[in-house]
Amino acid sequence: MEYDKVMTNDKAQMTKNIVLVGFMGAGKSSVARQLAGILKRELVSTDDLIEAREGKKIADIFAQRGEPYFRLVESQVVREISGCPGRIIDCGGGVVLDPENVAALKGKGTLIYLKASAEFIYECVKGQTHRPLLRVADPLAAIRELLKKRQPFYEKADIILDTDRRSIEWITQEILKVIC
Ligand code: S3P
Repeated sequence: MEYDKVMTNDKAQMTKNIVLVGFMGAGKSSVARQLAGILKRELVSTDDLIEAREGKKIADIFAQRGEPYFRLVESQVVREISGCPGRIIDCGGGVVLDPENVAALKGKGTLIYLKASAEFIYECVKGQTHRPLLRVADPLAAIRELLKKRQPFYEKADIILDTDRRSIEWITQEILKVIC
């Protein structure tokens, strides 16, 4: 009886979604791709689904419809994808700002926060232009400010992984150790 219970819990853990959260540029998409390949699981990206649904790049959605509209579509997408287990879910950096998104994702998933410093994030994103929130005169200052505001939201994750100066391969292996 006790053995059955353990097996059931293990199986549930194995099929739970692995949900990656964290700031822009922290490596979520690359890690998610690696995890999906290794675990042979379906990969779902909230940003990709939003772009496909709207038929536009995220920068254009922000420019033409504004951030509140983007967040609305983002929440719809999160609700739709979070109910089905066994996936690797790559979340846009702002998904955790809505507590209902977090609750939905936790329903069938383990949330993993890839935690990195503002300076490391800046090194990763500098030169990239596709993120509207970082298209500002001083991106490092913007990253510092946003990260400070968002930290308590990210820390609602089930697992916090310090990923500063770590490679995508290292992060992937750490997640596999914790999850499998
Ligand atoms: C955002 C993060 C982006 C994207 C959008 C807004 C955010 O995703 O969803 O530009 O608010 O942090 P990535 O974290 O994949 O860059």
